[in-house]
Amino acid sequence: MGETTNPGLEGVIVAETELSDVDGEAGELIIGGYPLEELAANASYEESVFLLLEGRLPTADELEAFRADLAARRRITEEVQQVLRRAAEDGAPAMDALRMGVAAASLGDDRDEPEATSGIDPEPRDDAMRLVAVVPTIVATYWRYRRDEEPLEPRPDLSHAANYLYLLTGEEPTPADVRGLETYLNTVIEHGVNASTFTARTVVSTESDLISAITAAVGALKGPLHGGAPGPVLEMLREVHEEGDPEGYVRAKLEAGERLMGFGHRVYRVRDPRAAVLSNGAERLYAQSADADFFETVQAFESVAVDALAEHKPDRRLETNVEFYTAALLDGVGVPRELFTPTFAVSRVGGWSAHCLEQLEDNRLVRPVSRYAGETDRTWTPVGER
Ligand code: CMC
Repeated sequence: MGETTNPGLEGVIVAETELSDVDGEAGELIIGGYPLEELAANASYEESVFLLLEGRLPTADELEAFRADLAARRRITEEVQQVLRRAAEDGAPAMDALRMGVAAASLGDDRDEPEATSGIDPEPRDDAMRLVAVVPTIVATYWRYRRDEEPLEPRPDLSHAANYLYLLTGEEPTPADVRGLETYLNTVIEHGVNASTFTARTVVSTESDLISAITAAVGALKGPLHGGAPGPVLEMLREVHEEGDPEGYVRAKLEAGERLMGFGHRVYRVRDPRAAVLSNGAERLYAQSADADFFETVQAFESVAVDALAEHKPDRRLETNVEFYTAALLDGVGVPRELFTPTFAVSRVGGWSAHCLEQLEDNRLVRPVSRYAGETDRTWTPVGER
């Protein structure tokens, strides 16, 4: 057993991957060999998923077939709809509903289930495609029930991003909104071995199936230290926009010992490169919107907060992370605040699934060790004598 413990596995290399490279010192992110900036600006989400699953970009014919394949898998069964209706009626938060919906994804499915004894997922790639396709439907179905509306049928003629917005609102989205969402989906699709991705890899390392792995990953993503920050970021930004005193807001939070949501990162010591891409996407979107002055507040807040954080923690660089501009961009394209973290999952399910397939290619059971810090010299006392 090693001499030192590392509770957050900080800096520990647990896998070799060809999916993405996160350079925390330089603030650079490469996805499937491409700089994030190039991929996010040019790719459709379907191309990004293909890139992660196949290790290269598709040809035009391959892309058409891939899009059609994904689009054909978007529907969820009546059984999954019932789970989501019940979750909405009970007022379950959206991430809990997503976790239930993903966990139930095999309910009512007419495919042959794997032998109960074998455990090994017989069709992991097929499950990957199915999960990428149904996560938007699960999120939107829950949301429609939540608002006392009937869920809509997925539209195979629309792209992945456009169909998601359509399922939420019932309206065909504008090209600007689709491009804004697509920029977001491409930007957060993959990011090394973060908590949720590591969770997914750990689950499949036991030779469990992808539905179990993605269910667990959704649970890991929910927390505010990972994917749960953009909702609170939006609330913070709207409050600051109304009150008009970013400096006072930031100082009060830091003096109260609170963390500023949307700042700081375990790996990045500079501004998260995803913040720049999302900020550009949001800037384009807000330039055409009636809410343009809100985006000015967002930009002004960033510089006030970064300066205040530098003063607050001079020994630790705390810069803007992905969640900060996620809030502005998703709000701008019309995704409701309650669905920000589920929309993160709509994208990241592509990365999670690709990591699962990569783990299975050359699998080694994930099984670290712990250091025992408990008592060693106790002797048993019968219950009546304690
Ligand atoms: N506001 C104020 N202080 C902060 C912040 C913040 N946002 N982030 C870190 N600190 C302080 C922290 O209090 C600690 O101070 P001390 O040593 O006195 O206790 C010091 O900086 C180091 O923090 P840490 O907790 O050791 O840093 P970490 O690497 O464990 O945490 C983090 C990274 C993202 C959890 C953290 O920066 C944080 O809580 N940020 C706010 C929540 C947030 O924006 N989450 C989204 C993360 S990005 C999404 C993703 O990539 O998945």
